[in-house]
This record gives sequence, C-alpha cells and structure tokens, in this order.
Amino acid sequence: RARLAVLISGSGSNLQALIDDSQRADAPFEIGLVISNRADAAGLERAGRAGIPTQTLSHRGFETRAAYDTALAELLAAQAPDLIALAGFMRILTPGFVEQWQGRMLNIHPSLLPNYRGLHTHARVLEAGDPWHGATVHFVTAELDGGPAILQARVPVLADDDPARLAARVLAEEHRIYPLAVRWFAEGRLVLGSDHRAWFDEQPLSAPV
Ligand code: GAR
Repeated sequence: RARLAVLISGSGSNLQALIDDSQRADAPFEIGLVISNRADAAGLERAGRAGIPTQTLSHRGFETRAAYDTALAELLAAQAPDLIALAGFMRILTPGFVEQWQGRMLNIHPSLLPNYRGLHTHARVLEAGDPWHGATVHFVTAELDGGPAILQARVPVLADDDPARLAARVLAEEHRIYPLAVRWFAEGRLVLGSDHRAWFDEQPLSAPV
C-alpha cells in the first residue's frame, strides 16, 4: 500500500475522512505520519485515536520559511512517504520544498479553483453572489492554490446561507473527493504530466506505488 503523510493545522476533518477511507479493506493507501504546525490542532487527537504517529513542528522559533521547510523535509525524509496530502495545513510552502515533492503532493482547497484562491473563500463567494461554490483537489506547485486541478465538487449556494452553513456544505464534499483522489494516486492512475496538467488513467500505466 502507498504510504501517505498528512499535514494539518486544525480540526483535521479531512484527515479523518482519509483515516476512515484508509481503514477500509480495499484501501490502496495507509497513513504513516501526521504532522501539525500547531500543538493544539484537534486533528492530532484524531491521528492518535487511529494509532497513527504524529509530530508537531511549530513554526515559532524558525527565522525563515526556508528554515522551517528544511526541518519539515527532515521529518518527512525519515518516513519517506509516497505522497503528501495537505489537509487544512495553513502555511505557505517555499518553492524549494514544493519542487522536491512536485507530482507527489496534493492539497484540498475550499473553492472552485481557479476562483477564490487564498483565505475566506466562503464569505467571498457569498459577497459575490455566486450561484455555485465547492472544493478542489489539486497538485501542489509553487504557485499558491494554482497547481493543476484533479477533481472538483460543487454545491449550490442557498438564499439563507451564511459562511458557516456554506462551509459545512462544502466540507462534506471535501470529505468525499479527497480520499478518492488519494486512492487514484495510490493506484498509480493519477499523474502530474510534464505538460503541467493532472492526468487520470483508467488503468494504471505504471506499477502502483
Ligand atoms: C478545509 O475546508 C480545507 O479545504 C481548508 O481548511 C479546512 C480545513 O478543515 N484549507 C484551506 O483553506 C487551505 N488554504 P479540516 O482541518 O477540518 O480538514
């Protein structure tokens, strides 16, 4: 089975969706490590309950982003995962780190990219009066929230929505699409092409990782 490392900063509900999926008998991946940049992230308890090793690497005490990312790279090197999944990891990664993992690092973002990169997506969608909102799983590249999209789920924006209600509706979809994309990668059916697009192969072309 492919080995996954998950990076979190908070509640970890996407981590939970990945844990739940990894525990199904047919799961092609397992989670070998969860890293949080915050010691109080509730997701660390979710990992602990599932018996998954955790590490906290606080960003405090690091003078530069590059220094933090070097320490992060060392933690990851010890486990040598096949894939990194960012799951509510609220830090911008340096281009050097991203390049090291290019094609092997996924993120989930709460908007229909390329719309609404960055933060506060739900409030911004409501403010704009958009009829649709959603979530995107994408490969991580050096451009923030700009990497090639793999899978998107959309939800309608309802007349009585507030950011919290809308966020909950989007989050439920995140929990469906993120494990699916991770499965595809683990099965060797998902690759970041040299043309900078995400390709899905119905049959694995290469041996599964
Ligand atoms: C999720 O909605 C995720 O898409 C978002 O943070 C939330 C984390 O929730 N990520 C970003 O905004 C990344 N820029 P979770 O901790 O319950 O998975």
